[in-house]
Amino acid sequence: GFSLQLLVVSLVMAEMVSGADEFSRYDFPPGFTFGAGTSAYQVEGAANEDGRTPSIMDTWTHSDNSVITGGANGDIACDQYHKYKEDVQLMAEMGLDAYRFSISWSRLIPNGRGAVNPKGLQYYNNLISELISHGIQPHVTIHHFDLPQVLEDEYGGWISRNIVKDFMEYADVCFRMFGDRVKYWTTFNEANIFTMSGYDLGFLPPNRCSSPFGYFDCTKGDSSSEPYLAAHNIILSHASVARLYQKKYQSIQKGYIGLNLLSFFFVPITNKTEDVIATQRANDFFMGWFVEPLVRGDYPEVMKKNAGSRLPSFTALESETVKGSFDFFAVNFYSVSYVKDYSEGLNVEPRDYKADMALDWNFMQENASSKYTSLPSFEFPLTPWGLQGVLELFKQNYGNPPIFIHENGQRMQRNTTLEDWPRIQCLQEHISALLDSVRNGSNAKGYFTWSLLDVFELLDGFRSSFGLYYVDLDDPGLRRYPKLSAEWYSHFLKGGSITP
Ligand code: NOJ
Repeated sequence: GFSLQLLVVSLVMAEMVSGADEFSRYDFPPGFTFGAGTSAYQVEGAANEDGRTPSIMDTWTHSDNSVITGGANGDIACDQYHKYKEDVQLMAEMGLDAYRFSISWSRLIPNGRGAVNPKGLQYYNNLISELISHGIQPHVTIHHFDLPQVLEDEYGGWISRNIVKDFMEYADVCFRMFGDRVKYWTTFNEANIFTMSGYDLGFLPPNRCSSPFGYFDCTKGDSSSEPYLAAHNIILSHASVARLYQKKYQSIQKGYIGLNLLSFFFVPITNKTEDVIATQRANDFFMGWFVEPLVRGDYPEVMKKNAGSRLPSFTALESETVKGSFDFFAVNFYSVSYVKDYSEGLNVEPRDYKADMALDWNFMQENASSKYTSLPSFEFPLTPWGLQGVLELFKQNYGNPPIFIHENGQRMQRNTTLEDWPRIQCLQEHISALLDSVRNGSNAKGYFTWSLLDVFELLDGFRSSFGLYYVDLDDPGLRRYPKLSAEWYSHFLKGGSITP
């Protein structure tokens, strides 16, 4: 009677007071995972310790091209190699469900193939067990931009088909050694960015390109074919490894395997037909390039048309292997990209991956580089609706597969302030947008923020930061300090409600 009525009234009033937008993690489906991430080269340090050999990341950061990182490198980074226990403690206190990290191939198998390094094996075993004993799920990336240099030197890394076998052997070691505890595997981080930046724009390792991007002289490589070749071998490597896992391990270890991409959400700069069509083309070239082979066994039609014979093709058997070789997709999302048509680009020689897209690249690059260079605009513009757009796209075009948001966060200029309000706003708006998507039928399964700590950043070294924790680089002990965003996230992770 009365008390029930009172309860109903007070609930309704609470709803009115708080507004309909208030949410907590309990509004997400049960089992929805919230975590934070890092990658091996960016966080571990101990680059020359215990048998690790250089990866293409080490070579790059120690070369002239390291102008991009301000001369910084990951030799020491956050020294997680020695401080993993402390870091797992931070994660546990914060209340993370999961930690996303990557394995350094050249730490585990220093020659790229063959003998496993016992010290490397021990490190990852320790880290994984430490996580498990604190109730934190490990989500492991097998390749995060850091191919062993020895394989790059031996046969050209990802542009050679030889890589498929070596990558399978390496992944097999990971599954065999860690798969009893690791249930979420990702073959490649940002397969699309790795191929585009490493083989066309040249600003990430292995820094191969044949057209200048402005930072340095691009003379080695061949951008007309190498991005396509590298991507093809990456897709075949991914599929072979996913099949290996599914056949040999999945029924025993009961885990899942997927592929990670940077998800651009493309928006036409005008509503003219050509810009709208260019936007679809951009999506096919950046996302469909990898997603369509996995979902339907072949490249997007527009890529085949524009790249012609420079785009490798799948044999019937390969197509069958590739199609369906995933349990989930993972996307990194930071902000939207605006697209302007440049169909005339299709008449320009020499042709490369960029030209084949027939987009106004100068326009897009200007948009991008203003973010990379001018200090006041260090922060990404907040476009949480773009995340919803990406999830909607997967739902409508790619069969609504399970999706993890593997990275999202705010880049800020690195300094000593712990009051990172823009980052809090970023997390809050994106998590809230994500909730709307889930309510609209997206198959999203989890959200990870980038990054746990102020790690070594690919494009800025230590000039910018994404971390929930500040790392004091002047302190020999590299002490970690929680920012306000760490407190905010912890409140959310522990079930606190968020009132936007
Ligand atoms: C992309 C990469 O996966 C990661 O390594 C990088 O630090 C962040 N996004 C931020 O740029």
